[in-house]
Amino acid sequence: CKINWVLVDLTWVLTLLVLAILGVPRNFNVDYKNDCFRKDGEEFRYISGSVHYNRIPRAYWKDRLLKMYMAGLNAIQTYVPWNFHEPSRGQYNFSGDRDLEHFLQLAHDIGLLVVLRPGPYICGEWDMGGLPAWLLNKKDIVLRSSDPDYIAAVDKWMGKLLPMMKPFLYQSGGPIITVQVENEYGSYFACDRDYLRHLTKLFRSHLGNDVVLFTTDGAGVRYLKCGALQGLYATVDFGPGGNVSVAFDAQRHAEPHGPLVNSEFYTGWLDHWGEHHSTVSTAIVAKSLNEILAVGASVNLYMFIGGTNFGYWNGANAPYAPQPTSYDYDAPLTEAGDLTDKYFAIREVIKLYRKVPEGPVLPSTPKYAYGAVQMKKLHTVSDALEVLSLSGPVKSIYPLTFIEMNQAFGFVLYRTKLPVDCSTPTPLSSPLNGVHDRAYVSVDGVAAGILERNKALTINVTGKAGSQVDVLVENMGRINYGKDINDFKGLVSNLTLGADTLTGWAIYSLSIDQAVSQGLLWEPGSGEAAPPPPSPLSVPTFYGGAFVIPDGIPDLPQDSYIRFPNWRKGQVWINGFNLGRYWPARGPQVTLFVPAIILSTAAPNNVTVLELEADPCTPGHCTVEFTSTPVLNATVNSDHKHQRALFRRDDLL
Ligand SMILES: *[C@@H]1O[C@H](CO)[C@@H](O)[C@H](O)[C@H]1NC(C)=O
Ligand SMILES: *[C@@H]1O[C@H](CO)[C@@H](O)[C@H](O)[C@H]1NC(C)=O
Ligand SMILES: *[C@@H]1O[C@H](CO)[C@@H](O)[C@H](O)[C@H]1NC(C)=O
Ligand SMILES: *[C@@H]1O[C@H](CO)[C@@H](O)[C@H](O)[C@H]1NC(C)=O
Ligand SMILES: *[C@@H]1O[C@H](CO)[C@@H](O)[C@H](O)[C@H]1NC(C)=O
Ligand SMILES: *[C@@H]1O[C@H](CO)[C@@H](O)[C@H](O)[C@H]1NC(C)=O
Repeated sequence: CKINWVLVDLTWVLTLLVLAILGVPRNFNVDYKNDCFRKDGEEFRYISGSVHYNRIPRAYWKDRLLKMYMAGLNAIQTYVPWNFHEPSRGQYNFSGDRDLEHFLQLAHDIGLLVVLRPGPYICGEWDMGGLPAWLLNKKDIVLRSSDPDYIAAVDKWMGKLLPMMKPFLYQSGGPIITVQVENEYGSYFACDRDYLRHLTKLFRSHLGNDVVLFTTDGAGVRYLKCGALQGLYATVDFGPGGNVSVAFDAQRHAEPHGPLVNSEFYTGWLDHWGEHHSTVSTAIVAKSLNEILAVGASVNLYMFIGGTNFGYWNGANAPYAPQPTSYDYDAPLTEAGDLTDKYFAIREVIKLYRKVPEGPVLPSTPKYAYGAVQMKKLHTVSDALEVLSLSGPVKSIYPLTFIEMNQAFGFVLYRTKLPVDCSTPTPLSSPLNGVHDRAYVSVDGVAAGILERNKALTINVTGKAGSQVDVLVENMGRINYGKDINDFKGLVSNLTLGADTLTGWAIYSLSIDQAVSQGLLWEPGSGEAAPPPPSPLSVPTFYGGAFVIPDGIPDLPQDSYIRFPNWRKGQVWINGFNLGRYWPARGPQVTLFVPAIILSTAAPNNVTVLELEADPCTPGHCTVEFTSTPVLNATVNSDHKHQRALFRRDDLL
């Protein structure tokens, strides 16, 4: 008997030793019997927050993640935008601000689990819902379906991404507990179950059979109809203010058993240019969050920090309404990562359900008002073509789209001549609404007017036969939601002058970002042109200025905000970093976030502005201003009918 006990003891010690050496098997799965997740055998629910690494400079990732951890979250949720990592077909970028593995490792080190949403489609108010624009090289491609060309591209991308994610799975010792397949597929017209089945097999083949794969759809039976699929755990998304048990009833319709999950609980809401800034009251967010947690559900707060659509990355809704540069979202952490009342209110609610970490919360980062910076006119776009378009123009009878010009983002210049004398104002039109999205028209170097998708399809021009017509077309961001995501840019149909179609175009693909970062626009031009006649409009023009970070003040450089008094609409770069679009003339966003990480104390900081509409220098001195407070909620100045935000939250309420 005694000997037996020794043997048992020895076996036990040996088992423990083996486990210690090999590590306790980590597992994460759905317990259908007890309606919960199980992590290493223990009942588990996550309280997570959305943070998009692609909207935050890498240097700030740790600060934002720590603040999320201190709020009491035990997980984060992020999308992976395909177009951010494969900007042109077969060319991948996972470095610097795109270093997804580093981001996941930081989350893991801080003690946050990860809910990964790799798409391929993500929506996310991100250009084309994260799909790369080069997919449109096949004109009639059916995105998010079994279209063989689409599937081939998806297979290749996932063949790159998912093996990279596998070591980060919970089962492999990493932070990723669940992985979403597609996104809100039930809201898409195609309803192609073979596509979802294909993705499921693809994800399983790369990630194995142990990982929990899930779907997310609006909390309505009609969304789950095409969004849910056998083998993928169905979850729902819904905002505050509704009836939580009714919303979860929709999930129960697809998943009679298993954990309740709200994958997107809206802490705020998105904005569009020309609409009022969205806010959602803290009280209503706290109340609904409490109700969700009270029924034992897992929840993800979308967004916990929104961040910024730097560069050209914002998306748009349909009918065409682009989102601004800020993705502040009225989230618990501001665009700049600052703490808000909403942050602390959410932390108090979470405290009722789980222990939140002790210790002080990291403070908001200080902001500095560097003041006014004198700007001077550099060149007009039309005068700078030699440095903006190194390859020169492509000649075409009819206009070509951005994709046909092999350009994804920014601006393309279309140049032709007036075929006839227009001594009286003659309508220049886009009869098929084919200006995607805004065109700045000039005749012989004088601004003639602006065409805008859905809003301004005709302007009048005057001029002699043979006068040079320049049409600078701005891509304002591709539609990211609904059936219109095949959003071609440029002049996607012909322009007419009177009754005639304009022909004989010279089309310039423009590498503005490259020219800005190489400092090419700062070189003196070939003689200043005579100033144009006074007019409310000017031709698109670059301006430059520089400022020095003051000496003797500790902790500079600090974050800041830039504003544009007297300016109307354009794009701004600091030291070659594309901060995004400004459009105070339309609102509601007035200031742009300036992260300190792009500023230099070693050399003057260079500000380059492309102003598209009006010359801010004509009335007097022209400056941009660095301030310490953001303005995202200015009164909206739009002569156009108010467009209503259209989706999801309204569907529910
Ligand atoms: C990859 O992305 C990073 C971050 O945006 C950028 O700095 C870098 O230049 C990119 N690399 C290439 C090869 O484009
Ligand atoms: C939510 O809806 C259910 C079913 O319609 C109802 O019984 C319940 O009272 C509602 N809850 C609230 C808070 O309104
Ligand atoms: C163009 O000019 C015509 C005639 O002067 C005028 O009736 C019309 O309103 C103008 N259209 C625009 C868009 O300015
Ligand atoms: C312009 O019109 C011509 C002649 O009708 C047509 O062949 C061509 O496809 C049109 N181009 C565009 C971009 O719509
Ligand atoms: C600004 O541009 C000047 C002139 O090209 C250059 O010497 C300087 O280094 C630039 N500043 C920064 C911070 O890049
Ligand atoms: C904008 O927001 C600020 C700060 O929250 C607030 O003080 C101000 O009243 C708001 N302005 C408008 C026009 O809503």
